[in-house]
Amino acid sequence: MQFIDLKSQYAALKSTIDGRIQRVLDHGQFIMGPEVAELEQALASYTGAGHCITVASGTDALLIAMMSLGIGPGDEVITSPFTFVATAETIVLLGARPVFVDVEPDTCNIDASAIEAKITLQTKAIMPVSLYGQTSDMDAINAVASRHGGIPVIEDAAQSFGATFRGMKSCNLSTFGCTSFFPSKPLGCYGDGGAIFTSDDALAVACREIRVHGQSKRYYHTRVGVGGRMDTLQCAIVLGKLERFDWEVEQRRRLGDRYSERLSGIPGVSVPVVRPDRTNVFAQYTVQVDHRPAFVQALQAEGIPTAIHYPMPLNRQPAYKGYCCPDCTPISDALSERVVSLPMYPDMSHAAQDTVIAAVRATIDGRQWAA
Ligand SMILES: Cc1ncc(COP(=O)(O)O)c(C=O)c1O
Repeated sequence: MQFIDLKSQYAALKSTIDGRIQRVLDHGQFIMGPEVAELEQALASYTGAGHCITVASGTDALLIAMMSLGIGPGDEVITSPFTFVATAETIVLLGARPVFVDVEPDTCNIDASAIEAKITLQTKAIMPVSLYGQTSDMDAINAVASRHGGIPVIEDAAQSFGATFRGMKSCNLSTFGCTSFFPSKPLGCYGDGGAIFTSDDALAVACREIRVHGQSKRYYHTRVGVGGRMDTLQCAIVLGKLERFDWEVEQRRRLGDRYSERLSGIPGVSVPVVRPDRTNVFAQYTVQVDHRPAFVQALQAEGIPTAIHYPMPLNRQPAYKGYCCPDCTPISDALSERVVSLPMYPDMSHAAQDTVIAAVRATIDGRQWAA
């Protein structure tokens, strides 16, 4: 049993992906080749955003989006503590301060109703994370932001490309959407890659310049930037993967729902909650369990791999302790002890999924740890 199987995806798309790679090898424009603009157009039209700017990673997407807003020392960015480290890391790299707002216990996403109390004159952005493939309440977050003079909202959509909120695509729900094409993400490449989405023309120009060392034309630098381009080969691979992306999103949704139908009602296991106004792309299928170490060990003994997303909230991490407000994130603290992700990928067969479900049931029925 694999946690994520990328080989069967490649087998299904082999001729398309191989053909696309070969074309890049033939034309030889490995940096900013024609596939870069082709992918940006395809993804802008997929999401409905005015602009897509591909970048070297999801981390660079967050960094460059914040750089385009001029975020720096003395500024604050409100975000979730229950996320991958890149969310807060990029804020701190710019000299700004992450202000952590605790999450909802069921969706594990930032509690939109708790954001307003943390806004100060220094707040320069709000950065919700669309964790596991489901967005936060983006309407509520955008409304708070506009009540406070139009604070920019940056959706960390690294895990949610393909998800929707009230019929709109993730990445096109706020000032910026930033996604990742890390291989295991819903839309992944075969290395590192990412993209920034915005419908603000001026911010799009700024992001395009910042991604290439802040240059507006060759060797003319209007601002400080980074070397943050996504290479042509990776763009070609994502273009190849788009061929069946709609099917994959549907598969993920169906497999997620199937897991939830069959796992709900098992004592000590809570299945992920999907709000009725959203679709979840299930980048991870993450349940909450009691006695997690024993649960994980029992599944491992059955040959079922699991992963913990995430074992420690960021405000508790040694590198980010300076930004901790004591005991302000009790829900994230509790979730970090309970969450566990089960195998999930679009090509997962029902038979493989049934094996996982049976192992979860046997583990709970056996309650090896209760003795
Ligand atoms: C929530 C979140 N934000 C940001 C990132 C960073 O993306 P990348 O690994 O492409 O830099 C990730 C990737 O794991 C993520 O899950």
